[in-house]
Amino acid sequence: MKLENSTINDIRNGVDIVDVISSYLPLTAKGKNYFGVCPFHDDHSPSMSVSKEKQIYTCFSCGATGNVFKFLQDYENISFMEAVAKCADIAGIPISLGQYEKKDNKYQELYDIYEVSQKFYQNNMNSSQAKEAKEYLYQRQLDDTLIKEFGIGLSLNESNMLTKLLKKKNYSDKVLLASGLVGEENNRVDLYDLYRNRIMFPLHDSSGKLVAYNGRAYHGEATNKYVNTKETPIFKKREILYNYHRAKEVARIKKQIIIMEGPMDVIRAYTIGVTNVVASLGTAFGSEQAMLVRKLSSNVVLCFDGDAAGLKATKSAIEEFAKIGIQPSVIRLEDDSDPDEYIKKYGKDSFLEKVKNAMNPIEFKEFLLKDNLDMNNSIDMANYANAMIEEIKKMDDEVLQEVSITKLSEETHLSLDFLRSKIAKEQQKVVAQEISSEKKKKLTKCERSERNLLYYMLRFPNAIKMYDKKITHMPTDRYRHLAFQVSTFLKQYGYIDIADLLTELREDEEAIETIGELSSLTLPEEMKVEEVDDYLKNIKEYNEKLQLDKYRKELFNSNNYDRKLELAQKLVDYKMRSEEENARD
Ligand code: UTP
Ligand code: MN
Repeated sequence: MKLENSTINDIRNGVDIVDVISSYLPLTAKGKNYFGVCPFHDDHSPSMSVSKEKQIYTCFSCGATGNVFKFLQDYENISFMEAVAKCADIAGIPISLGQYEKKDNKYQELYDIYEVSQKFYQNNMNSSQAKEAKEYLYQRQLDDTLIKEFGIGLSLNESNMLTKLLKKKNYSDKVLLASGLVGEENNRVDLYDLYRNRIMFPLHDSSGKLVAYNGRAYHGEATNKYVNTKETPIFKKREILYNYHRAKEVARIKKQIIIMEGPMDVIRAYTIGVTNVVASLGTAFGSEQAMLVRKLSSNVVLCFDGDAAGLKATKSAIEEFAKIGIQPSVIRLEDDSDPDEYIKKYGKDSFLEKVKNAMNPIEFKEFLLKDNLDMNNSIDMANYANAMIEEIKKMDDEVLQEVSITKLSEETHLSLDFLRSKIAKEQQKVVAQEISSEKKKKLTKCERSERNLLYYMLRFPNAIKMYDKKITHMPTDRYRHLAFQVSTFLKQYGYIDIADLLTELREDEEAIETIGELSSLTLPEEMKVEEVDDYLKNIKEYNEKLQLDKYRKELFNSNNYDRKLELAQKLVDYKMRSEEENARD
């Protein structure tokens, strides 16, 4: 059974893209459209426009475009059908999607394998061979409830139990090897379990699908304390934050997200009721992770380990967040402890106090600067003042800026007037950030005609009919491709609508990209028939010119007399035809 296209379109019409997108990010109305910071690239000024009228979004900077389904798919990292189901839910249109909800994912087998492995590893935790692992976990104050809640499993000291189980379920060797859970020896003759003797922390993608493991050694001296699953089609380490899917809702509600290093830290935070927390899985924190975090809240608190590595990670995460316009606050924990150790040692209240008093960006800068400075030394003091001025001038929040100036004045005994005028002077130097302008490609006359014609074809059936009637085609591949799709859509459904067309073309990246390019055009809203005629004429002329050039070249190069004659005749015919046409016009 399949959902009818018309039902899907009804569902799309049942929601307003502006409402949906603004439930994820703030949109500001400007003229007919709404604008917001694009979540699909490292945007720092609002480059995404959302059209209420057309029910689509377009980013002028990265070119992302689509209807409400595409937005949900990409933002929530869900399948098309899941996005449709979500909208149906909002629109109050009852559909039972159970049977095809998951069907449209090409990596379904990999996801299924992980489901199997999860049950398998969790089961192991209750086996007689789990005694040592359980003791280890208890000793680290993880009780059975937490083990269950976080789906923590165990790989045993056996060479191929999981592999055998999966083979019994008829997965091909190729898929098993691609899953990252199975390894091979002797050219696929012997397949074996890659994870052995490790406590298995499941890793989920942002939509909550199990995609990998972080496996911790628990006895003896293993070479690697933690081993992550290798990268697979469904697991890109750069795009994963531990516990993201559980923290999503609560972070949005609390309007705050806390970032730690490891699963143990996150789980410990849960035990004291701090649930708006994710882990970076190490000290490397990249742009993809920063963008994921931004989807939850721009109020970010970094709570990495108290050691030197944690401090370094904090600084680089701040740089990563700065690129997308976020200034995180920072918690530093005493005596090199990580959140897990800190909470166990000092307790809930002490940690909550830490969160409450997290250093704002400027306080953290101060903290770093003061670390190596002797405030009784004039040069140190001047260096400190200069460094602080450098920070203060960058602040967006005027109140915070004023508070910081006052504080700096007290610390350095420099007068408020002096500091204020110095900062004002510095600010003038800061060149206004260039708003990423639409990348205007230089188009030829014909390309411009094709593009403008398509602009109207996307809106007016009449333009499509005019294009179809003319015996010409668009010479530019991407435009011709879209023109064909638009014309096919009209023939099939009897109307044209960009948002519905986007649903139809959801797999067609090339067409979607071209629609994005066209969406950022500003042409008159009304279609003039003469204008469309003009475009068609330009395109036709260009095509003919191409053809003539080809004839001329062939005429020049050919040694075949008959063919030469034929070509010469074609050229003469063309010349006469165009003279006739010119006379008519
Ligand atoms: P830590 O070394 O701080 O581990 O690395 P931890 O969280 O304190 O772990 P325990 O308490 O010793 O069990 C932080 C995180 O970095 C990732 C792990 O996810 C770890 O939780 N990591 C660390 C790796 O992926 N591989 C490693 O070799 C080390
Ligand atoms: Mn740690």
